[in-house]
Amino acid sequence: MKLFVINGPNLNMLGKREPELYGSRTLTEIEDEITKLGDDLGLEVKCFQSNFEGEIVTLIQSAGNDVDGVILNAAAYTHTSVAIRDAVLCCAVPVVEVHLTNPHGRELFRRRSLLSDVCRGVIAGFGRHSYCLALLWFANYSRNS
Ligand code: DQA
Repeated sequence: MKLFVINGPNLNMLGKREPELYGSRTLTEIEDEITKLGDDLGLEVKCFQSNFEGEIVTLIQSAGNDVDGVILNAAAYTHTSVAIRDAVLCCAVPVVEVHLTNPHGRELFRRRSLLSDVCRGVIAGFGRHSYCLALLWFANYSRNS
C-alpha cells in the first residue's frame, strides 16, 4: 500500500514554530520517523509539504490515481479551505485528517474543521504520534481490504 502524507502551511517551520505547542522536532525528522514506521508496517510513504492551497488540492487529486490513501494535516487551511474540502470529497481513496495539537483545546476558530466530516477519521493532539496512529490505521485497513 502506498500513502501520501501531506502537510500544509507553516509546518515546514516545525522545530522553530511555537515549540511549546508543536514540539522541538523538525518536519524532516518527523517525516523520517513516519517513513521508517511505514517501512516496518509495509507501507510506502511519500511526504509532501506546501504553503499553497492549490498545490495541496493538486496533490489530493493525484492521490486518487497514484496511491491508496492520504494522511492530511492541512494546518490552517483545515479551518478555511472549501477547495481542499472539495478535493477530499472527490478523492477516491481514504483521507485521514491529522493534527499535532488538539484544535478543540485551542482558540475557538480552530474548533471548526471544514474537513473532518468528509475525511475517513480524525487524529489530533498526540504530537508527531498523530501521524503514526494514522499509519497504524492504514496498515490495519490494508490487511482487511
Ligand atoms: C495544526 C492545527 C491548526 O489549527 C494550525 O493552524 C496548524 C497546525 C496542528 O497540526 O496542530 O498549523 O494543524
